[in-house]
Amino acid sequence: MKKIAIMTSGGDAPGMNACIRALVRYGIYREYKVYGIERGYAGMISGDIFQMYPRSVSDIIQRGGTILKTARSLEFKEASVRAEAIENLRCRDIDNLIVIGGDGSFRGALTLHDEFGINVIGIPGTIDNDLGYTDLTLGFDTAVNTVLSAINNLRDTNAAHERVSIVEVMGRNCGDIALYSGLAGGCEYVLVPEIQTDFREVAQKVILSAKRGKTSNMIVFAEGAGNKQELIDTIKEATGKTPTVTTLGHIQRGGAPSMVDRVLAAKFATHAIDLLRKGEGAKAVGIKDYKIFSMDLDKALEVKKVVDAELYKMTQQLSL
Ligand code: F6P
Repeated sequence: MKKIAIMTSGGDAPGMNACIRALVRYGIYREYKVYGIERGYAGMISGDIFQMYPRSVSDIIQRGGTILKTARSLEFKEASVRAEAIENLRCRDIDNLIVIGGDGSFRGALTLHDEFGINVIGIPGTIDNDLGYTDLTLGFDTAVNTVLSAINNLRDTNAAHERVSIVEVMGRNCGDIALYSGLAGGCEYVLVPEIQTDFREVAQKVILSAKRGKTSNMIVFAEGAGNKQELIDTIKEATGKTPTVTTLGHIQRGGAPSMVDRVLAAKFATHAIDLLRKGEGAKAVGIKDYKIFSMDLDKALEVKKVVDAELYKMTQQLSL
């Protein structure tokens, strides 16, 4: 019987568990033996690898996090360590590997393919939505909904106190969490790492919006969008109002996955297993224009993530 190992790697994202469940169950349905590797590449090195069964993944579809646990392994960057790790697959006759993770996790998988001929498939799983080849990564939709729920709460108190409020969101160098939650949350300003913003413009917008009758303002600030303190100081100086700052942090990583992420997990997982059935390796699974597809992993990693300039423009046009 053919064998597949699966793992989650890098930052966890809601929907990873739903994807693990789908991989285990569809893998077994297609007559593979499925193995789980704990803590990503760290567990491959230490040999924390165990067989999984349909009941191993009961009652997890609705849970955030990952039952396989996850880690960012620096050790794996060393060739000798990778050779040890691969032995832990070889001694179990495993030559198929599915990795759910982001950019760094995909690069690790590609190295295993290039160096040892392991069939690897990458499933995009990160709240950041920072992989350019796919419209969506697992966990992004849920994270944005979590931010939206925080924005809704903040709007209430913001309106009551006539405040300027800054919400800081995650995303590393990618502004998608900020952009989508800012647009969907009806926020006055969205600051993203990809677009340089003069903070004085943000302050001017607060002043202008007051002239138009607005009594409160909500600004979404992506963590990579510059110096937050400078933004606070600029607004304070220009408007006389001290903005309140809410940093949402790791709250964005947890919670029950949305319908979108659960369905995406099922689609990504079945597509990944079908690729292995066809003997295709070194592929990245993604979604483009609502269609699931796959492409060469190395090519996928070359696609630069571009911020959606139309959406950004909309956030400005709709916040008069
Ligand atoms: O990549 C996901 C992410 O949550 C980023 O948005 C954030 O910058 C980073 O991980 C935080 O990393 P850590 O979990 O190591 O604190």
